[in-house]
Parts: sequence; structure tokens; C-alpha cells
Amino acid sequence: MSRTSLPTSWRSVLPHLDEPLPPDRSPESPAGGSDAGVSVNLPFALVRQSTQNREFWDIPAEVLDAYRSFRPTPLWRARRFEDAIGARVPIYVKYEGGNISGSHKLNTALAQAHYYAKAGVKELVTGTGAGQWGTALAAACTMFGLRCRVFMVGTSLQKKPYRGTLMRALGATVHASPSDLTDVAARVGGGVNSLALAIGEAVEYAGRTEGAAFCIGSGETYSILHQSVIGLETIEQLAELEATVDSVVGCVGAGSNFGGIALPFFADAATTGAECPRLVAAESSTTPKLTRGVYAYDKTDATGVSPMEAMYTIGSSYPIPDSHSAGLRFHGAAKVISAMRHRDQVTAQAVGQVEALEAGRAFTRSEMVLPAPESGHALAVAARLATDGGSDRGVVACVSGHGYLDLSAYQQLLDGELTAEPPAEQALVSAMDRLKPVQGLAVAGSGHHG
Ligand SMILES: Cc1ncc(COP(=O)(O)O)c(C=O)c1O
Repeated sequence: MSRTSLPTSWRSVLPHLDEPLPPDRSPESPAGGSDAGVSVNLPFALVRQSTQNREFWDIPAEVLDAYRSFRPTPLWRARRFEDAIGARVPIYVKYEGGNISGSHKLNTALAQAHYYAKAGVKELVTGTGAGQWGTALAAACTMFGLRCRVFMVGTSLQKKPYRGTLMRALGATVHASPSDLTDVAARVGGGVNSLALAIGEAVEYAGRTEGAAFCIGSGETYSILHQSVIGLETIEQLAELEATVDSVVGCVGAGSNFGGIALPFFADAATTGAECPRLVAAESSTTPKLTRGVYAYDKTDATGVSPMEAMYTIGSSYPIPDSHSAGLRFHGAAKVISAMRHRDQVTAQAVGQVEALEAGRAFTRSEMVLPAPESGHALAVAARLATDGGSDRGVVACVSGHGYLDLSAYQQLLDGELTAEPPAEQALVSAMDRLKPVQGLAVAGSGHHG
């Protein structure tokens, strides 16, 4: 039985970065300046958490109470998985799928709903890809007495109708995106079926609805802060097992799950002077922002009114191919993750969906836990590191969610119907063509890390 306690503070990595994050730019004045638009309706607490150079932030009592129903989450050595893949070093897994929403997203959804409710907001509107974020926000809104409206990527909702049902059971109103409710969908709708558009719809809808606020979810600096509970618990749990690892792996959609498990290791090493393990972001080869993208200013959504952020991106206009890992189908990586990737403080590997689901299937058969396809990417990278000599001492990987609502993906895998085509170079180049590089640098390093 674990003695690990629930952290009472979140831990920020910002004080340990050697430079502040590049400021956001307003889309109207690309030359620079303020983050017009980003703080509209954003509770002050969340603005502070994104911008202040403070390391520890008390978790509000109401949020701690909610965390207690599912945290600390389990960490174990996955010996049977190690055997199944022929690992030469131990693999530890941290499992975030055991809450009502089924993923790590609830860690920040609860915090965000709490702060929005305190700020007097009555309804939160959001966009979701896989539906994990929407489900988490729906659950959190219910807990904190808010209405919730979710625009979910339409192809995802078709593939996973029960995600929609779960969100509705939790009290949310769910729309397939592109919907017929917004101008942005009418403008760019049609063939476009992306998280950027779903977010754009939510931004527009919230903007014209009294008492409502748009809530972006995953990639913001404050959500990465909230996710630090994952890494803080992991560090304590590994110490309890007297285990050391030289690699920490998480999958990356926008980056909060990876940031959540990995960045507390960075902060810890910076404080103690110990060597930091290699922090490895596992991304989908359909959206290879950290391995094939540029470090540039880009939009976070498809409206064109949100601020431009400094991020690794394959271009917000890139038509992301369909895949079963809808939660990884985002064109950019969070600002913090991108800045750290630019300094080689994090590395990245891209994984195709067949390899990810094979890893997920091996994990299911060996560890009796069915991972989400997104989490399969982290397991695939953990398997690579543990078998090909990349890791000498051990790997810890975050299994960010369960896959019970993703069984159609596993069905296609079992039926031999899955393919994994990485994007052609020319398509990426033209989507990144007009982006403004950060600090005059177009590409960091070779563009292919790990
Ligand atoms: C199960 C699961 N894991 C990982 C991710 C990616 O998370 P993030 O956006 O925090 O990188 C998602 C996103 O939806 C998800 O649903």
C-alpha cells in the first residue's frame, strides 16, 4: 500500500527557465506586444499562474477535496509489460485513467472550473478532440455548479458516440464540430475537421453568450501547472520504491500531460543539483510538431482572433489526417514545452498509430489495463527506450487515460485495418511557410530529435 500523499501545492517550472517565455502577440499587430484577447474572461488566478515566476502554488481546499476522490493515482513497475516487450531496464507507469473522466484532464478541469466559478462565470464553453477534455470539463462543471457546452471534433464524436453520451450524462451540451452554430465553422468548415476549429467555435460561441467564458483546456501554462500533481506524486512514489529512472515519457497533444509528469523532474533537478532524467515527449506522427515543426508564432485555433503564441508548430492551417488518437491531433505544442524543446531540455519522438496501439495492446494483455490510444504513444516510446539501449537505468511513462471508449481503434488494429502514414514533407512545408519564426530562428537543431 502506497504511503504517498496528495501534493498540497502545484509546482511551476517557470522559475527554473533561464529566460522568460516569449510574449504572445496579437494577430492584428504581428510585430509584438500584448496578449490582447487571452485574458478576456480568464480568471485572474489563472493569469497569475501563467505569468508569475513563483514556484509553489497552494491548491485551493475545494480542489484538493475533489482530488482526494481519485488522487494519489497509482504508480507501479510494469514487470509483465517489460517481459512482453523484452525490456532490458525497468519500466514504471503512472496511471491517470482511473477517474470519472478517464484521463489526466480532470486535474486541471477541476482547478479551472473552481476559479471560473469564483469569478462569477455561469457557463464554460470549450472545444475537444478525443472528448477527454470535454468529459473532464463536464465533470468539473457539475462539481462546481457551472453549465458546460462542448464542441467536439465531429469525426471523433462519430467514432466515439459514447464519449458524447458520457458528457451529456454529466450535464454538458455537446455539439459536433463543424456545427451550424458559428460563423467560423461556416467560413472554414467544410472539409476541415480539427481541434483548432472546434476551439474556434467555442471561442466564438462563448464570446457572444452572456455569463459564458471560453475555456481552452489543455495547453495553457496554468493547466501544465495544475498537471504537476502527476510528476510530484511520481517523484515521491519512485523514491518510495527506491527506484531511479533516466527517462520520463508522456504523450503530447498540446503538452499538459507530458508537462505534468516531466516538468517536476526538471524543477527538482534544478533545485537539488541532481542530474535531470531525459524528458521525452511522445507525439503522433500525424502531428509531428516537436520533431518536424518550426519554432514560430502561430494561432492556437482557427478563428484568427486569438493571440499568436510562440510554439513548435506544423502550422494551424495544416489539414491534420484523421487518426484514432484525436487527443494528439493538435498542430502546436504548449509554450513552455516548446521553449524547453528549443533549448534541448526536452526531446521528442514521433509514433505512428499502429505502433501506439500495438504497445497499448501489449500493455492490456500484460498489465490488465487498457490504455487510451494517446497513452499508447507514450508506452511505445517507453518500449523503444527500454529495449534499444536508449535507457540504462529505467523509464517512467504516464498512461494518461483509459481506452474503454476507444475500442473501435483496437478493433481496427485487431482486424488489420489500421494504417499510419506520416505527412509528406511538402504538405508540412507549405503549412509552415508564412509563420514568423521566434527570435529570428526558423528551426531549432535538425528538427528531428530523439
Ligand atoms: C488520453 C489522452 N492522453 C493525452 C492527451 C493529450 O493531452 P495534452 O493535450 O495534455 O498533451 C489527450 C488529449 O485529449 C488524451 O485524451
